[in-house]
Amino acid sequence: MQRQVIESRYRELTASSACAFSEAKRWLPGGCSRQAGFWHPYPLTFVRGETCYLWDLDGRRYIDLLGNYTALVHGHAYPPIVAAARARTDDSSCWVGNNEEQVRLAQLLVERVGSVEQVRFTNSGTEAANLALMIARRWTGRDKVLMARGGYHGSLMEFETGFGGATGPLTCIAQYGDLPAFQEVLSQEGESIAAVFLEPVMGAGGVISGSQEFIEGVREAAHSAGALFVLDEVLTLRLARGGRQAQLGVTPDLTLFGKLIGGGFPVGAVGGGRELLELFDPANPRIFHTGTFNANPVTMAAGVASVEALTAERIDHMDALAEKLKTELLQAASQVGLALSINHTGSIMNLFFSDSPGTAYGARDDQELMARFHLAALNHGLFLAPRGLIALSTVMSGAIIDEVLERAVAALADTAAAEL
Ligand SMILES: Cc1ncc(COP(=O)(O)O)c(C=O)c1O
Repeated sequence: MQRQVIESRYRELTASSACAFSEAKRWLPGGCSRQAGFWHPYPLTFVRGETCYLWDLDGRRYIDLLGNYTALVHGHAYPPIVAAARARTDDSSCWVGNNEEQVRLAQLLVERVGSVEQVRFTNSGTEAANLALMIARRWTGRDKVLMARGGYHGSLMEFETGFGGATGPLTCIAQYGDLPAFQEVLSQEGESIAAVFLEPVMGAGGVISGSQEFIEGVREAAHSAGALFVLDEVLTLRLARGGRQAQLGVTPDLTLFGKLIGGGFPVGAVGGGRELLELFDPANPRIFHTGTFNANPVTMAAGVASVEALTAERIDHMDALAEKLKTELLQAASQVGLALSINHTGSIMNLFFSDSPGTAYGARDDQELMARFHLAALNHGLFLAPRGLIALSTVMSGAIIDEVLERAVAALADTAAAEL
């Protein structure tokens, strides 16, 4: 099967999404509002989701292996979240002043995440990273940030620079996993670095897991240089009740949250020690921070339901399903003669069509094969990220994974045939 055949089949199956995209391009630059929501030749338009299924405009059903880039840890329309959000909207969706749900959600995060004593809410992980940087700048009187090359902390300019693999006037970078490289930058530029930001597992970078020695070593080097250490758990809170930091035994100064803590609604948060978080105390503000929708009641209510339902048993369940999926995908690929490698931690994984796992940032050697498999998977009713990220949800079962594998085998066969 030629590559064009996979694409023609996609166009045949998803004609309504093609029309919707033409219309979208009239009103939205490039037809969408989110880089990660675009793929060639056009993204699907979805109309409905339930459990781990999504339906597009043509009425086709997909098994959702992405859950909005990990945010929907309990799948779509999870009944306790829907009930909580509905109950909240029935009694108005927002107001100025406090709501009880934000207190409950902050308390849940503090109870679970060892390094966190207080929480400040935002509307996205991007804003949470911005806020952490504001804290670090105010605390240290310095202005630069050090992060991993290809690390992702949202779309603030300082972090976008490092995600793109570049240094900038306020951005220093070092190679993820290379402790001496981080130590070197800190020894040279430490006096101007306010904070070191790190993902415990690089998500957008391709599910690359940092070792305990690396993460702890960077934390110590940051402190020796007088900088704060910020751990970005926007994506990794799903790995353990206490986040990846609980698994690694690392205690950051600040932790970034997002995605699952909003139960599918826009959210972000910074957590940390009281001394740092009190910079926001409105009675004695040392950082000005406000926002019309910060800690909005609907998000907070949905977030409480989402976090409460993320039990250790459910995390283990997702992890076991991910292990099975990974093992059987590798077998299926080798049966059709495709080189496939998978980076995997807990319930998240990233596919690479190469003999050894790579990184998902910058130019990829397997770009063409990855894009082909992505479209072939859509043709067979599987939805995953164009870059090969998969994130399972608690509502999946062994039977669903079997169905995923059946469809994946067909998509792998189409991808392999397209090579001919
Ligand atoms: C590790 C990490 N940090 C921060 C962000 C930014 O979050 P948001 O997209 O809510 O701005 C993301 C989003 O993918 C992320 O994966």
